Amino acid sequence: MDYSFDKVFDFSGKVALITGGANGIGKCIAELYAERGATLVLVDRIEKVHETASALGSQHLSWVGDVSDEDSVKSIVSGTVEKLGHIDILINSAGIGPLDKAEDTSVDLWDLTMAVNLRGSFLYAREVGKQMIKQKSGRIINMASQAALVALDGHLAYCASKAGILGMTRVQAMEWGQHGITVNAISPTVVETEMGAQGSWAGERGEIFKSKMPVGRFAQPQEIAHAALYLTSGASGMITGENLVIDGGYTAL
Ligand SMILES: NC(=O)c1ccc[n+]([C@@H]2O[C@H](COP(=O)([O-])OP(=O)(O)OC[C@H]3O[C@@H](n4cnc5c(N)ncnc54)[C@H](O)[C@@H]3O)[C@@H](O)[C@H]2O)c1
Repeated sequence: MDYSFDKVFDFSGKVALITGGANGIGKCIAELYAERGATLVLVDRIEKVHETASALGSQHLSWVGDVSDEDSVKSIVSGTVEKLGHIDILINSAGIGPLDKAEDTSVDLWDLTMAVNLRGSFLYAREVGKQMIKQKSGRIINMASQAALVALDGHLAYCASKAGILGMTRVQAMEWGQHGITVNAISPTVVETEMGAQGSWAGERGEIFKSKMPVGRFAQPQEIAHAALYLTSGASGMITGENLVIDGGYTAL
């Protein structure tokens, strides 16, 4: 194995499938992989995903699909393998964060959050995992959150779904390590995307939260993308089953 810096961070010839790739963190990770030479497969529930992919180059694929729909996941994964032959990296970034107080959380809000955040990540990892087992190699990132580790007001279903991601990640890492596959989670604090700082964390609520963070600010999507790049590179083959917390020190207090 060549561990030179340029070699381990060279993604040319790699195929990276990114869910939630039209926007936010998923889009930012896609841009970084494209810069490093990877071929992208972007999946999202919105049509904008085609525009995001084609803006990065005509070689990239894009699919519209709901990550919680088993048939859609199976057909997108098999369609990708048919067209590109292999999938080296999976980033499970699609997610939603509808909020309500614990006592008011409806079954619909709970089920939808679990379906997108947890079932969607499970389905993509299961289908792509089968392909990676055949290939005897692969890298998977499941996007969790600081909400997996600490209570956040109004985030009952979201916290539960992200805590579930950590348990799922550990089992996938345990079972698939023997096949040359690493599986890790990333747990960001609020990231300045539509879902994060531009959404429910805008305004006074966000300012109060930042004042409790050692670094005193929210994260930029690029700061999450670089971590994903590292955890899917040739430099990180010994890291699996981990949860990389990117929270400006919030959970260290
Ligand atoms: N932004 C934050 O503050 C923050 C913090 C911690 C963790 N996260 C996690 O990071 C991930 C990405 O968040 P983001 O900030 O980029 O959000 P975002 O809203 O900017 O982007 C999420 C993307 O996922 C897509 N999506 C949603 N439901 C889908 C479904 N059912 N099927 C397919 N695609 C779907 C959306 O269309 C969107 O393009 C999520 O899992 C989120 O929980 C975000």
